Amino acid sequence: MLSRRTLVLSGVTAAAAGAAAYGFWPRLGRYQEEVARQRQLLSADPTLEALIGLATLAANGHNTQPWRFRLNQAGVEILPDFSRRTAVVDPDDHHLYVSLGCASENLVIAAEAAGRAAALQIQGGPEPRIDIALRPGPARETSLYQAIPLRQSTRSVFDGRPVSSEDIELLRIAAEEEGVAVLFFSDESDLEAILEFVVEGNSAQMDDPAFIAELRDWLRFSPNHALESGDGLFSACSGNPVVPQWIGGAMFDAFFTKASENDKYRDQVRSSAGVAVFVGDRADPEHWIKVGRSFQRFALQATALGIRNAHLNMPIEVPAIRPQFADWLGMPDSRPDLIIRFGRAPALPMSLRRPVSEILV
Ligand SMILES: Cc1cc2nc3c(=O)[nH]c(=O)nc-3n(C[C@H](O)[C@H](O)[C@H](O)COP(=O)(O)O)c2cc1C
Repeated sequence: MLSRRTLVLSGVTAAAAGAAAYGFWPRLGRYQEEVARQRQLLSADPTLEALIGLATLAANGHNTQPWRFRLNQAGVEILPDFSRRTAVVDPDDHHLYVSLGCASENLVIAAEAAGRAAALQIQGGPEPRIDIALRPGPARETSLYQAIPLRQSTRSVFDGRPVSSEDIELLRIAAEEEGVAVLFFSDESDLEAILEFVVEGNSAQMDDPAFIAELRDWLRFSPNHALESGDGLFSACSGNPVVPQWIGGAMFDAFFTKASENDKYRDQVRSSAGVAVFVGDRADPEHWIKVGRSFQRFALQATALGIRNAHLNMPIEVPAIRPQFADWLGMPDSRPDLIIRFGRAPALPMSLRRPVSEILV
């Protein structure tokens, strides 16, 4: 009879062989074609659907794309799609509303490029939504607009080079939003202190089977699976090998460990130029949307400057650690919203989105 150890080893060997046979990022052809098709700037006289397409290229938690869009006489409404919530990592829909804020910012910037002035209003109530009224205005193709198709979350080790204080000032200006504070850290001692919170948060998440199961559900190991769903976290976008879905699952179960993940985050933080922390004045959907708008502009400005960014949200996702992190920030009464590292690195493959026709109501 095979021992458990032999079984595990043979599973891993099969997975490794599969990965080798498949190559590291092979057969991305059709995947890359679809990425290129989705990631285009507007053509002349664009439709509202084309603006919505650019809105969906925004950052969003686990790439669940938790939004719906409705056209009305004045413009566009962005609504939450609770069927795409991530109940374990985001039980109060914080990330969901931040994601809506990110998409709304892309839409406003794209509308401006198309010669439409956008007036954005956050509607409260039991299902908060974002109303964007559009009317003719001067066309402005800003560098943030140009960056929309190029922005990505880059989950690789960065090259360790610093970012100049001039560039940090541009990031700070881009992220300015009433009701949101953005704190920048680049001293080694601060980054090490943040890393400790990250390791503590990651360790808690890795010990939580529900967190792992939810994450695994959104992982896409093969280009075909990523293309079929048009959502989720595709391996190549995190710098991981591309393999058939079943092998990917086995590799994930074998290699995704607390120790390896913590080592990865140590390398990632220590190779970053700095960390930006976003903190809304209040912990409610209105402020989470504002945080999303602020973060999306930060990420677009970073992209325009050739600066990469990636999330390190574990200390704010684990409820037991979040207040300690707020204390460390010197903001004990606040709920910190996002922790973002930045620096320089080559691009990774871009993520996919679902077609606009699927998200229009
Ligand atoms: C509110 C929010 C929370 C996120 N949390 C994480 C995170 O904890 N770890 C991570 O690697 N990426 C995180 N992301 C990044 C998303 O996974 C990413 O935006 C999504 O997969 C789409 O990929 P893209 O940003 O490259 O377009 C987060 C994004 C948002 C908006």
